Amino acid sequence: MKILVINGPNLNLLGRREPQTYGKNTLRDIEDNLREQAEHLGVEIDFFQSNHEGALIDCLHTAIGKVDAVIINPGAYSHYSIALRDAIAAVDYPVVEIHLSNIYSREPFRHHTVTSAVVNGQISGFGPFSYTLGLMAAVDLARQRQSDES
Ligand code: DQA
Repeated sequence: MKILVINGPNLNLLGRREPQTYGKNTLRDIEDNLREQAEHLGVEIDFFQSNHEGALIDCLHTAIGKVDAVIINPGAYSHYSIALRDAIAAVDYPVVEIHLSNIYSREPFRHHTVTSAVVNGQISGFGPFSYTLGLMAAVDLARQRQSDES
């Protein structure tokens, strides 16, 4: 089973970027942690980060037929990228949307995400643990899908 973790714009700066909101962990710390957790769960894990909308869409497309589920933190694109929303709607594998911060307790423009309607579920507000919960959800969804298909 293969899980892909996609991170959108500005998440490459985690650790240095607004640490009061996003914490002190770098993206590398989060990925290293997830790699360990994936090993315990017996699943393969891969990572992709880009600051570019098109690159995120290409990554979602390329993953068709290659991954069993995706965890995505679309960053600010969550709030307004119809193109990213359409790409998520177009793929056939389960997608879990995650956010480090609780977007519903922040500025009003963060309360709405265009992506949440097309993902299997959303996790928001648990810091780096959002990724761990996302991994658990993604593995569960992929397993359900495999057992539905067999
Ligand atoms: C974020 C929340 C978004 O509103 C913001 O634009 C980000 C990070 C989060 O993980 O909390 O870049 O997705």
